[in-house]
Amino acid sequence: MRVELTGRVALVTGASKGIGLAIARALAENGARVLLTSRRREGLEQAAAEITSALAAAGNPDGADAVAVFPAHAGSPEAAEAAAAAAIARFGGLDILVNNAATNPYAGQLIDIDLPRLDKTIEVNLRGPLVWTQAAWRARMREHGGTVLNIASIGGLKYGGPLGAYDMTKAALIFQTRHLATELGPRVRVNAIAPGLVRTDFARYLWSGAGPDADYGWALGRIGQPPDVAAAALFLVSDAAAWITGEVLVVDGGALLGPRSSAPANPARPGQGQPTAG
Ligand SMILES: NC(=O)c1ccc[n+]([C@@H]2O[C@H](COP(=O)([O-])OP(=O)(O)OC[C@H]3O[C@@H](n4cnc5c(N)ncnc54)[C@H](OP(=O)(O)O)[C@@H]3O)[C@@H](O)[C@H]2O)c1
Repeated sequence: MRVELTGRVALVTGASKGIGLAIARALAENGARVLLTSRRREGLEQAAAEITSALAAAGNPDGADAVAVFPAHAGSPEAAEAAAAAAIARFGGLDILVNNAATNPYAGQLIDIDLPRLDKTIEVNLRGPLVWTQAAWRARMREHGGTVLNIASIGGLKYGGPLGAYDMTKAALIFQTRHLATELGPRVRVNAIAPGLVRTDFARYLWSGAGPDADYGWALGRIGQPPDVAAAALFLVSDAAAWITGEVLVVDGGALLGPRSSAPANPARPGQGQPTAG
């Protein structure tokens, strides 16, 4: 997918691997300059090198200047402010914020969760996107406009399963997306993507038991790859989506619809129904 993002500046949290890296790469490949953030500098530098070499291989002479890294904790308001300032100082603006980083330190009954892990989940998955949006708004977007994209989950659109605390933060992030769309328009659009199961480290325990071509029984069969989500992200932050705000785009291969007729058994968890991650 090609969109025109030349002259735009993007900031992506959780950009060192997985979905965040795929989004950062897609933004850079379509002309944006991108500040990659996550906690660990080493992972960020590897990610930046991967994007730079992809741009060079595609014949982009400015590829080396298209990305920069900024280590930052997604739950920290101070880090958010510093990252927004760094994007503006390095690239001269901030037009696109992708709140992608998340954590999932607890699997089990929501009723039994301990408060430290509940607080951590809320800090990174819900408070984080809010404070990074505040930072982008105050530093740049209030005056110059822009677009915010939150990476939620289909877990925020359903009930049940062992990820109640995580899913609860994603449901609230979907609320936050829609609510902020009403507050920040007309100059700033706020949208979300709700991915289903995607082949990243985050969800490894849900897909590692199945082969790469496994059919999970939902409409499109396979699990997602990070570029599947990046393509949707590219659309939502581009001018092609100029009249879309407060929207939550489900990108899950049809998982949320339930099993297709005559579905094969779930290859990852035989006899236990469909994986519900995300
Ligand atoms: N994979 C799935 O099946 C799936 C499904 C639905 C939704 N999602 C959502 O997609 C997003 C990306 O997930 P992913 O699967 O791509 O995960 P991933 O491959 O594990 O990557 C997570 C990224 O977030 C960073 N990160 C983690 N905690 C952080 C923190 N506290 N502060 C800053 N950065 C942090 C990591 O880098 P550092 O370790 O360097 O910080 C890494 O760059 C998340 O919002 C997740 O909830 C994933």
